[in-house]
Amino acid sequence: MKPLVVVTRNIPRISLDLLKPHFKIDYYERDRAIPRKDLLKRVKNADGVLCLLTEKIDAEFFDAAPKCRIVATFSVGLDHVDLPEATRRGVLVTHTPGVLTETCADFTFALLLSSARRIVEGDRMMRADKYPGWDPLMLLGTDVFGKTIGVIGFGRIGQAVARRAVGFGMKTLYADVQPVFPEIERSLNARRVEMDELFRDSDFVCVHTVLDASTKHLVNEARLKSMKRSAYLINAARGPIVDEKALVKALKQGWIRGAALDVYEREPKTEPGLTKLPNVVLAPHLASASLETREGMGNLAAASLVEFLILGGPPKNLANKDVIPKGRSATLSVGA
Ligand code: DGY
Repeated sequence: MKPLVVVTRNIPRISLDLLKPHFKIDYYERDRAIPRKDLLKRVKNADGVLCLLTEKIDAEFFDAAPKCRIVATFSVGLDHVDLPEATRRGVLVTHTPGVLTETCADFTFALLLSSARRIVEGDRMMRADKYPGWDPLMLLGTDVFGKTIGVIGFGRIGQAVARRAVGFGMKTLYADVQPVFPEIERSLNARRVEMDELFRDSDFVCVHTVLDASTKHLVNEARLKSMKRSAYLINAARGPIVDEKALVKALKQGWIRGAALDVYEREPKTEPGLTKLPNVVLAPHLASASLETREGMGNLAAASLVEFLILGGPPKNLANKDVIPKGRSATLSVGA
């Protein structure tokens, strides 16, 4: 009998087609997150689950899915998954790193440019038929070339953003627990600094770190106050890294000049007042949303399920490498 895989939301057709020959599929084919009750009911007999970042994969989920041996999340972020709990229960968790790096970096730069150069405000003016004709003082933004970008979290996406910054003649400051190799620093015109220096000296502060207990509200009132009044905050990582209430205050009271956000603290809700502000560009969590990348993410997630449940091998993108799979007595030798 084919193993049962639950797919918790609409995914690209091409990725679903990878699963079809191998699995019995219970497909929640909607463009909305699956209600928690339905999720818990559907996973009762599942051998594997392909989920999204909108599903909480926690102890309650694992209790409801006693046969589940692998959860493949269609995301690089893992903050919705209780990884230690999965490991404790012998459930493999895979994610989709790499495939979305350049797409997310492109989008970060799109956010940066559209806030600095006021593209969204200009678009609104045109659509409202309010363009009075060329005006030397109209919608003046700030230059991007030659400025300093501060990258919080210098992993794959942070470095891809810095590569783009090189093309704009920018200097990069980065904050990360680990320094990168000196030759990478040189090629990216990047220097590792303490977090406080990054906030103080950057013209654009870009958030690219993971969300965990140590990064929640890393961008808080004190740090926003320490930024240049001419600076911008860009967040395409995870909403709760920024204290959104403090950000609304900062934008209203002019502590910083602007912001551009792709993610929100209580997604899909936004902090009251945020959508009324002219000096913020708001996107609905689109950083990885290109057709090619979303298909790539879906295919990686599907491949993980096949690699493990059908071929019996270690999936390439295993997040909990120390897991001892249910029913086995040793870890899979994954990249080790
Ligand atoms: C992720 O993959 O974690 C992004 O937030 C969505 O692409």
